[in-house]
Amino acid sequence: MIQGSRPTPPFAPDGRGDKIVPRPRSAKVAMIGAGQLARMTHQAAVDLDIDLVVLAESTGDSAVGAGAAYRLGSSSCLADVRAVAEGADVVTFDHELVPNAHLVKLEQLGHHLRPAPPALSLAQDKLRARTVLSASGFPVPAFAAVSSREDVSAFAEACGWPIVLKSSSGGYDGRGVHVVESSSQVAQLFDLRSGGTTRWLAEEFVDIAAELAILVARTVSGHVALYPAVQTVQQDGICRYLLMPASLAAPVIERASRMARSIADGIDATGVLAVEMFLDTGGQLLVNELALRPHNSGHATIEACETSQFHQHLRAVLDWPLGAPTMRSAAATVNLIGGTSAISPSTQLLRALEVRNAHIHLYGKGFRPGRKLGHVTALAASTEEALDIAQTAAAEFTEP
Ligand SMILES: Nc1ncnc2c1ncn2[C@@H]1O[C@H](COP(=O)(O)OP(=O)(O)O)[C@@H](O)[C@H]1O
Ligand SMILES: [Mg+2]
Repeated sequence: MIQGSRPTPPFAPDGRGDKIVPRPRSAKVAMIGAGQLARMTHQAAVDLDIDLVVLAESTGDSAVGAGAAYRLGSSSCLADVRAVAEGADVVTFDHELVPNAHLVKLEQLGHHLRPAPPALSLAQDKLRARTVLSASGFPVPAFAAVSSREDVSAFAEACGWPIVLKSSSGGYDGRGVHVVESSSQVAQLFDLRSGGTTRWLAEEFVDIAAELAILVARTVSGHVALYPAVQTVQQDGICRYLLMPASLAAPVIERASRMARSIADGIDATGVLAVEMFLDTGGQLLVNELALRPHNSGHATIEACETSQFHQHLRAVLDWPLGAPTMRSAAATVNLIGGTSAISPSTQLLRALEVRNAHIHLYGKGFRPGRKLGHVTALAASTEEALDIAQTAAAEFTEP
């Protein structure tokens, strides 16, 4: 395994030859994964002088490009995960693709996993999350585990076509989520039995009025900070933009926030927990997905809140005092999603930088259509105004 290191120079750089006394770092945190969430966590770790080391698949990963200390390896290989965890005070996550059995093993070896494997399993396995949440009385879309076309048809007959067919694990940004109109479409598109370890989940198609996410930070000792609700707007299963605070009625937000808080306590979450919810056209709130890590819906917290979700995540997993989640201003974030060509820093970025009050974040990632390559946040007196500014800057990245 290759390790990226930044050796401490033995002598003062001014050439006087004074020996530098090694300084104690505030903590050592290992993060599994090196995508944009790890990149922005690295930025927060720098502020708090935390020694963050990430497990990267390649030197092209987003966090590595930003100068994070890294080890190269695979999150599905126990030896690689163990190697990055070695010597860390806590282990945390940029994604949830590590086999849960590896995490259980790591815990047995004495590593401190934040969140712990039982809580993380709810982000790893949608079927498990639906089952656990509904058994605990939280409203979720009607669902069933399916492993044959007959199962899907039986489910759809009970709740009506279309239905949504999801792979229980491994999906993100709408990958693994399919709206299915008829049983013949199931037969054409899915071989539900041949997916190896893939388990499938059928869900009612929810008539969505709005989607929202509530971010909760929870420390190891159970202290909680709740962020203002975020409204997310998706297209083709991927979040295009978000508004903070959500433009929804106060009682809806209160209900959603209470639910998110009690989920965080109920599953013993540590770090940031994002609870994705649907508000249906009948006014009912349904829990969709859980993510136990910093989340795309929380990027506006960097500029809009007293404490960003990345700082908060580090503070929570280390059981340090949490910061205020209070908003300074209304905000909107627009995701920069790969279109037909790569982002051009020399033209597009420079034009976008001309847009006043737009905060641009590029992830340094290789281009692929549909991939999140960055985001733009704007603060303003209203979310509408903020969205207008963020969209103006983001539009520069779609023109050559
Ligand atoms: N049961 C459903 N009914 C209607 N739309 C859904 C349903 N499930 C998911 N979607 C849509 O697809 C998006 C992605 O689904 P989600 O389960 O959150 O998967 P991902 O892991 O890709 O984020 C949701 O944000 C929502 O817009
Ligand atoms: Mg989702």
